[in-house]
Amino acid sequence: MSIKTDLSRSKFDTKILEKFHQETPFFLFSRESLKNKFQEFQKYFPGALIHFAIKANSEIALIQTLKDSHACFEIASKHELNILKDLKIPCKDIIYGTSVKPLDHIKEAFDYGIDRFAFDSFQELEKIAAMAPNSRVYVRVVANDTGSVFKMSEKFGTEVDNVIPLLQKAVSLGLRPYGISFNVGSQASNSKAWAHAIQVLRPTIENLKDIGIKIETLNLGGGYPSKYLSSEDAPELKEIAHYIYEEYNKLSFQPQLILEPGRAIVAEAGVLIATIIARIERRGITWLFLDAGVYNALYEAMAYQGSTRYPVTSMRSAFDSGEMMFALAGPTGDGPDIITKEVLLPRDMDVGDRLIIHNVGAYSLVVTSPFNGFPKPSVYFI
Ligand SMILES: Cc1ncc(COP(=O)(O)O)c(C=O)c1O
Repeated sequence: MSIKTDLSRSKFDTKILEKFHQETPFFLFSRESLKNKFQEFQKYFPGALIHFAIKANSEIALIQTLKDSHACFEIASKHELNILKDLKIPCKDIIYGTSVKPLDHIKEAFDYGIDRFAFDSFQELEKIAAMAPNSRVYVRVVANDTGSVFKMSEKFGTEVDNVIPLLQKAVSLGLRPYGISFNVGSQASNSKAWAHAIQVLRPTIENLKDIGIKIETLNLGGGYPSKYLSSEDAPELKEIAHYIYEEYNKLSFQPQLILEPGRAIVAEAGVLIATIIARIERRGITWLFLDAGVYNALYEAMAYQGSTRYPVTSMRSAFDSGEMMFALAGPTGDGPDIITKEVLLPRDMDVGDRLIIHNVGAYSLVVTSPFNGFPKPSVYFI
């Protein structure tokens, strides 16, 4: 695996970043990049409903930017709903995509006017029927997530064989069968994962039609990958879309497609600027300690389910020639607070130098914790 940073992928050139003298650590997002990413989804999935999964990043300015681009949204709790309410996002543009929900969260969503809910069990159907009568429901099936960094299949999704009895039960409870969803896991590497899920579902979709339940929507979930050093050969959206449509067009009718991208919309739109607080030689490794780490910024870099490796570059070029390998650690007193053990940077990096950590827009700010008292970094938009 190459460990060289390909800066050509970055949405920020160093000249722009040099103008930001704010105290570190801070995130910087490009509105243009967000809009472009959203438009890419519209381009490859024409006519599909694109619901941004706000669990990936719920910064107000970011959601406002996507709203201005006419995005729809997917929520996972009443707390996420409150963010959308404050931004006056209408209920018709929101779906509740988590298939297991607290009762009062279903009620609050329903009270706001949301009437589209995911579910994957008989019990959840009963909860929805009680709290959100007459709503539209879509059943989440388990999907093969073998090639994905973050798996969902252990925790979520019913077997395909349960789809018909579940949707029949929905009808008997006064709910409206709206569709089927799946999620191939997050940061998927198999460009055919979504197409494969549709292929598996095809007989069920046809059987449902034969018994009078013609699903309105097919929800492809999230999982569309972003570029990291740990997954440089992630497939392009164009290729993923190609395989999806190949399978989708084999259906005897074409339900409305819904997508719930999170990571792919926001990851590459954000950078984190951090300052080196220490340079230490320790047991054969040169460590750079930063003022941001896995707890206050880069949770996915922790060695957990695969450890995301972000491209990292220096704000200044080397004074002397050459680069060398460093390990990067966060500022907390915790052992796992290590961002990477392999990054090439100018040999003379030292205390006070600033680093740019690229493609950090997803699952970073939303999962910060005040561990050891380090606060959430500031956030700016250009
Ligand atoms: C229901 C649902 N939809 C969409 C997403 C977004 O996934 P990603 O960020 O991989 O696109 C997730 C991620 O957890 C999810 O649980």
